[in-house]
Amino acid sequence: MKANVIRPGQTIGILGGGQLGRMMAVAARHMGYRIAVLDPTEDCPCAQVADEHIQADYDDVDAAKRLSDLSDVITYEFENVDLEVARLFEEEGKLPQGAYSLEVTQNRSKEKEEAVNAGLAVPEYAIIHSEQELLDAINWIGYPAVIKTISGGYDGKGQLKLETEDALQELSSFLKDGGTYIVEQWLSFDLEISQVFTRGIDGAITYFPVAENIHKNHILHETRVPANVTDDVTEKARQAVRTLADQMNIVGTFAVEMFVKDEAIHINEMAPRPHNSGHFTIEACNVSQFEQHIRAICGLPLIPVHSFPAAVMVNVLGKHYDILTSKAEKYIDLHLHDYGKKEARTNRKMGHVTFIGNSLEEIDESIEANQIHMW
Ligand SMILES: Nc1ncnc2c1ncn2[C@@H]1O[C@H](COP(=O)(O)OP(=O)(O)O)[C@@H](O)[C@H]1O
Ligand SMILES: [Mg+2]
Repeated sequence: MKANVIRPGQTIGILGGGQLGRMMAVAARHMGYRIAVLDPTEDCPCAQVADEHIQADYDDVDAAKRLSDLSDVITYEFENVDLEVARLFEEEGKLPQGAYSLEVTQNRSKEKEEAVNAGLAVPEYAIIHSEQELLDAINWIGYPAVIKTISGGYDGKGQLKLETEDALQELSSFLKDGGTYIVEQWLSFDLEISQVFTRGIDGAITYFPVAENIHKNHILHETRVPANVTDDVTEKARQAVRTLADQMNIVGTFAVEMFVKDEAIHINEMAPRPHNSGHFTIEACNVSQFEQHIRAICGLPLIPVHSFPAAVMVNVLGKHYDILTSKAEKYIDLHLHDYGKKEARTNRKMGHVTFIGNSLEEIDESIEANQIHMW
């Protein structure tokens, strides 16, 4: 496809005003773009750095039209925006990412089918609608397993791990009548990785370094680069995402989360946008996942990626927030990111910190010295 070039001075509209929208906006502002954001929350993270804030719900079609009127190009910062609104923008020729990758990533069943169609491995899974269907599926999937809502889940929300038969007691409060769920075999992986990459409108792709992700309670805690994987696994990860990217005609920054077991990769999840596990690129790479995303959707050529030898990003959740902000001046060697959220709920992502260095060993010493390992 030929790119419609959006130039500095023109306006980028962002659906969703959380931290990802904010970091996209900051990158875009460095480049001279104006920002309009649509988000229901007053003074949301992105509104604090945007030129215009349309405060409305994501499915408010009139508000979406106002965003479109203000914007030369539109992007989204998360996948749970209204699909109809996205289709409207696509028809207007203002959504280079297209609505298809949203449609796929909004639904865990479609996401798995897309991976399978690309010839990639996924954990064994079944789609279920009732407790009986779940029991039938568990019969062949076995324990441990995990049950997830088919759409709308994030940061481990809408998930229940089933270690043994005993966990079935918790099911009645989890399963809702008429709901659709996916049940997956719980993979005893060696490690989790993600490949964040960017694809231009012309089909060119740049890859950020493969990152290793450590989750606590299903929420990303720490991202480490370089990931502790062989060159062979890195190559498999890159081939996998290239196949998916071409098959889905992806435009912009996109992330694929994978499990690594015995040198094989299994696709876990995809995100059609910049990703938490790519935040390290802000300081550790010559071009961040956000800047590259803006370049892609604006039809500018992608910048070849170079990076520092090592980086570690640690999320700051609500429960860590006071420790971090009250002692900000005491922390050395780390880059602080505060998303400007009002309410520090326990597991809410409030910010992140990034260390960069010559080796992971060197960074681990800084983490220890700063007592971040206590989080
Ligand atoms: N089938 C699985 N096998 C092993 N671990 C899993 C599985 N599904 C989820 N997890 C763990 O839970 C985390 C969050 O699950 P994920 O499906 O990525 O949902 P989300 O990130 O949308 O909350 C994963 O990164 C992984 O640590
Ligand atoms: Mg995930």
